[in-house]
Amino acid sequence: MPSSPCASAGSSPSGWREPVRAIVHPSVFGGGVVSVPGDKSIAHRWLILGATALGECELRGLPGSLDVLATATCLAALVGEEARRVLDGWASDPFPQADRDRSTANDPRPRGRDLVLAGHGRAALDAAKDPLDCSNSGTTMRLLAGLLAAAPFETVLRGDASLTARPMERVADPLRAMGAEVWTTDGHPPVVVRGGPLRGIEHRTVVPSAQVKSAVLLAGLAAEGSTTLREPVPTRDHTERALAALGAPVEFEPGLATVRAFEHEGFAAAVPGDVSSAAFLVAAAVLTGGALAIQDVGLNPTRTRFVRVLERMGASVGSRIERVELGEPVGTLEVEPGPRLAGTTIDARELPLVIDEVPVLAMVAAHASGQTRFEGGAELRVKESDRLAGLVEAIRGLGGDAALEGDDLIVGGSGLAGGEAEARGDHRMAMALAVAALAARGPVAVDGIEAAEISFPGFEELLVALGARIEVSA
Ligand code: S3P
Repeated sequence: MPSSPCASAGSSPSGWREPVRAIVHPSVFGGGVVSVPGDKSIAHRWLILGATALGECELRGLPGSLDVLATATCLAALVGEEARRVLDGWASDPFPQADRDRSTANDPRPRGRDLVLAGHGRAALDAAKDPLDCSNSGTTMRLLAGLLAAAPFETVLRGDASLTARPMERVADPLRAMGAEVWTTDGHPPVVVRGGPLRGIEHRTVVPSAQVKSAVLLAGLAAEGSTTLREPVPTRDHTERALAALGAPVEFEPGLATVRAFEHEGFAAAVPGDVSSAAFLVAAAVLTGGALAIQDVGLNPTRTRFVRVLERMGASVGSRIERVELGEPVGTLEVEPGPRLAGTTIDARELPLVIDEVPVLAMVAAHASGQTRFEGGAELRVKESDRLAGLVEAIRGLGGDAALEGDDLIVGGSGLAGGEAEARGDHRMAMALAVAALAARGPVAVDGIEAAEISFPGFEELLVALGARIEVSA
């Protein structure tokens, strides 16, 4: 395996607040009508497409999630003076103070400031002076590696301690096959990309990964010939949808995507609410028996599979598509109070479709009757934390029943007593623990709740607005 020529570029935690402990009490969830911050998967992609468009882009409701700020800041270091000012300006103040002060039950925090950016195409990208800090965001690092595979200069991509532990050969490998020079550090960040002329490839991903697929498709936009991706199991298709909406020569169906060289023009679109963030609120309503509607949320079918899982467990969750934004269906999710929940099995083919929702589904399972199995969860070990180990430790620590059989997670439905649990710097673990506490028999002290800001700024405020009792202490 090639090693990095830049051994000095180490990990640097950034963007973190001081560790915060939230004591979340069993609560009666009031329900109501809410919205959630914009989708971070979509925001990363639209930001990259915006910064490399030939023309003006207007991205409305761009979420101020820390991961999205990381992408904006990295892009700022690669674009011309004018676009840099816009991106850096947005990233330093994604929520204007006036909006921050405004707080209502339905909208305790704003959805993020709009961004208007004049792109000058991929050819206008320039070498960054310093290594790009992708912070905690795997999507930032992997997608930028794909974008930079065709850029005729060298870029160093690094991240915080969590990101530095995550595998990068899965993206380096196909980009090398396309003609880029890519070095990882024993398979991990820092990653160095020296771009150049690319040729299209046919690549079969071993691990289902939308990040790898998207990196290769972004590189394919600048490659000679066509680039085809085959996946063992279909993954989220936000890149394909955006490219199709922009008129790119892209063809896709579940598990298969092909793209040819293309330069896109400017566009305007509003980022849909993040359905993976909505999943925490849906689970909270399901667990506490409240009725809840979540408006303006992305309803891309490659992201909403958790609704089917919850329905199998006995929940009643409806969805209604109301409009389309750059190829993305957007609408309302509605939760009705339902009967007691029962366990289910999420098999290895379904698991990639709920990959980000496993932490919260596992907490729902801990409160359901009977056993729930999450099969084939090896990928969960290389997310922002080892979520298999973290979930077993947290559920057991809170008085529940959970075990691993190889890469399968088995959760017993004995309910949770309460106690203390550690988010391990992982946003989805932090939020899943807070949701689990709402239906526990006693309070849960969640250490590291601030990690929620990675994808869901305003998470605690929104839970409180909906009736949760939470005490926060630094
Ligand atoms: C994402 C893809 C998934 C997901 C992550 C976001 C994306 O990761 O877990 O939160 O935006 O493409 P993998 O591609 O590693 O499966």
